[in-house]
Amino acid sequence: MSSSPPFSTTLLKVKPECIHFAKDQPLPTITDEETERNLKIAAHELLTTTNAIGFPTETVYGLGGSALCDESVKSIYRAKSRPADNPLITHVSSISQLQRKLLPAGYEIPTIYHKLIDHFWPGPLTILFPNVAPSPISSYVTANQDTFAVRMPQHPVARALIALSDLPLAAPSANSSTKPSPTMAQHVMHDLSGKIPLVLDGGSCAVGVESTVVDGLSSPPVLLRPGGVSLEELKRVGGDEWKDVVVAKRTAGDDEKVKTPGMKYKHYSPKAKVVLLINCGDGNEAVAEYIRENGVDVEAIRIALLKSRKFTESPLVHVTRDLGSSGAAIARNLFKCLREVDEQEKVDLIFVEGVDESDEGLAIMNRLSKAAMEVIQR
Ligand code: TXA
Ligand code: MG
Repeated sequence: MSSSPPFSTTLLKVKPECIHFAKDQPLPTITDEETERNLKIAAHELLTTTNAIGFPTETVYGLGGSALCDESVKSIYRAKSRPADNPLITHVSSISQLQRKLLPAGYEIPTIYHKLIDHFWPGPLTILFPNVAPSPISSYVTANQDTFAVRMPQHPVARALIALSDLPLAAPSANSSTKPSPTMAQHVMHDLSGKIPLVLDGGSCAVGVESTVVDGLSSPPVLLRPGGVSLEELKRVGGDEWKDVVVAKRTAGDDEKVKTPGMKYKHYSPKAKVVLLINCGDGNEAVAEYIRENGVDVEAIRIALLKSRKFTESPLVHVTRDLGSSGAAIARNLFKCLREVDEQEKVDLIFVEGVDESDEGLAIMNRLSKAAMEVIQR
């Protein structure tokens, strides 16, 4: 593969609170000049080049390019060194854009999605549609699957960028493949500076974990990836058609096969080794025991503890971060704190408190069990 062209990556500030979408209006009103100018620069880049750019969504930052253009999509894979067999989500700014640009003329959205779309869009829910030939969508987006995944992001910057360019954007998370997803523009800069021309900086992401991916084309429907919309909400809003939704054992596109510590395919992983502690009370004994049994030299290496609901401070660790206690707070802070202790505090070992798998807990534990090289369960 040819190496990416060198870029001097520009960070462009945008103010999400100055972008407003009125109901049924395709284009937003933008009340801040700098925000409007920078959004137009970004839209122009997407329309006139095949470069991928970084932008905020309510879940995590995305790395976007036109879903209709092979070269743009290839730029995405190249910038983040993503394996080509993992399909991308296409982002739209409105239902009419979805119909106009992606779906075949006259295609009716399956009824199983109606309540979900009404309630969760714009928002962190991704749904699958059949990919019918001849499709306008690049085959690099779908990785040759017979379906394609779509969501309408809620973040005003993401929506405005898609609306102004009138391009459905293929966008994975804007991290280097295997790293934790970025929830701040500086995380995108850390991973992709020099590899893409620009990043729109719209502040921190409110949700903090990626969208929930569901397949309503299968019967019964399947939850492919837990995320910003919980399984409980999905069932409650979806009603009868979603009450028997099956939770996929493995996240879609995830090819991890070996559970042996140190051998699995890496995902959401900082440089430091992550040890996930499940059901370990206040954590003190579990941390002490791990250190003792593994001969960890606390004088020689730096250790972090990410605690949430039950863990207390441990005298054996050097850096402690509190993820918060509500599911929403833990989700929002998870990737940010993993990056902070790894990239700034430069720790070698990270202990993380596990949470129960209800509500936001399912997505949190899904990400943590992938980030972890070892899981200690009591
Ligand atoms: O919140 C999000 O979804 C973020 C932001 C940027 O929108 N995007 C994101 O994209 O997380 P990515 O590429 O990191 O994850 C896409 C997920 C993968 O698990 C992939 O396997 C699944 O969606 N996916 C995409 N297309 C699919 C398809 N046709 N069938 C099954 N799964 C699909
Ligand atoms: Mg990702």
